[in-house]
Amino acid sequence: ETSYVKFKVKDFSLAQWGRKEIELAEAEMPGLMALRKEYGPVKILKGARIAGCLHMTIQTAVLIETLIELGAEVTWSSCNIFSTQDHAAAAIAAAGTSVYAWKGMNAEEFDWCIEQTLFFGEDRKPLNMILDDGGDLTNMVLDKYPELIAGIKGLSEETTTGVHRLYERMKAGTLPMPAINVNDSVTKSKFDNKYGCRESLVDAIRRATDVMMAGKVAVVCGYGDVGKGSADSLRNSGVRVIVTEIDPICALQAAMEGFEVKKLGTAITEADIVVTATGNKNIVREEHFRALKDKAIVCNIGHFDNEIDMAWLNGAYGNTKIEIKPQVDKYTINGKDVIVLAEGRLVNLGCATGHPSFVMSNSFTNQTLAQIELWTNSEQYENQVYTLPKHLDEKVARLHLAKIGVELEVLDQDQADYIGVTVDGPFKPEYYRY
Ligand code: NAI
Repeated sequence: ETSYVKFKVKDFSLAQWGRKEIELAEAEMPGLMALRKEYGPVKILKGARIAGCLHMTIQTAVLIETLIELGAEVTWSSCNIFSTQDHAAAAIAAAGTSVYAWKGMNAEEFDWCIEQTLFFGEDRKPLNMILDDGGDLTNMVLDKYPELIAGIKGLSEETTTGVHRLYERMKAGTLPMPAINVNDSVTKSKFDNKYGCRESLVDAIRRATDVMMAGKVAVVCGYGDVGKGSADSLRNSGVRVIVTEIDPICALQAAMEGFEVKKLGTAITEADIVVTATGNKNIVREEHFRALKDKAIVCNIGHFDNEIDMAWLNGAYGNTKIEIKPQVDKYTINGKDVIVLAEGRLVNLGCATGHPSFVMSNSFTNQTLAQIELWTNSEQYENQVYTLPKHLDEKVARLHLAKIGVELEVLDQDQADYIGVTVDGPFKPEYYRY
């Protein structure tokens, strides 16, 4: 245990700016605001000490303040060294929450920040709930602080990569608490991963490079939910997009959407921009770097930085690296320049501000419902990975309709009987894929 530091942010004086943006975001986050109304008065999370590890953005600030309004105590770190918005962190610190996050920390500081969130307040009470994005907090608790496990009711996990780690633990029989997979709520992965990246990918490339998008050729590696949004983002900006895939179903989907589907080795020589979105490792490697055009841009929108072989690049050509500006670096490989964004870390949070509030409201309403479920009902769960029930998934969507002027049809009893559902839903069977 380390000595108590109440919070650590880059610049506390940014708090008022952060607060003004948080207020704007609240208006775009109807799901979270509805949960405040529904569960705030009863303080449904009273007694919960939630340690969160998730990009410390303005949107996350609205999540944190929702959890607090529901009665929880909260500590926070960011799950990426570049993703913190310093004004958001400052506003959260100013409101009295223990947040440890700043943009541009190093790996050691990253671990230190997570570690600070495990113990609450002067009396160092340990966490009793985990809210994670990518699994770094979960791994820290399970691997380094196993003595804390018994006191923790459960964990909720935000992203594909973190969820993958949890299922591995479950299969190996080493998952020591119930876990809710937030990512695979339909209203998370089919919205945040897809429509979020559709807004935030090109935003990031533009903020980083100001390059003209229209007319360029981009390769998107991986056509899952993030790849679909990323490919759309580029296409919508006039970019000719080539997709790479290993999965024949996703490859066929990409082709039917009108994208070329090629091997990276084939497409790389044409690429002005390469984006990895696989959640896998070693996608862009030495042979690809060597084949790139002069001034090609390489970036990653998956969770971890191992999609691009940065170790090789830094080892072989680190001596040519020139920082154009923070999170934008130029390397020179045999006379050709390559521009690498956010050091290969997720580009939309490193070079831009992540996804817009409205789509994050869907994700974070799922997060909050998952925390409520685990806090109030954890004894009903085994040490397994669960997704939220469909009626809650539908509830999350429902909470976001009015804001964007959506009208819903309502079934009459006869129609409901005919398609075999109840008038109030759920409207689809579990096996339906949206
Ligand atoms: P997904 O599983 O839906 O998609 C990944 C796709 O990559 C799959 O279709 C898979 O077949 C393909 N793939 C795997 N290895 C490949 C290879 N060697 N070459 C080409 N394709 C390959 O996962 P999802 O939800 O799209 O997430 C991808 C990553 O993005 C994860 O790390 C996830 O955590 C992260 N993520 C990032 C977000 C952001 O805002 N930056 C938002 C949501 C998720």
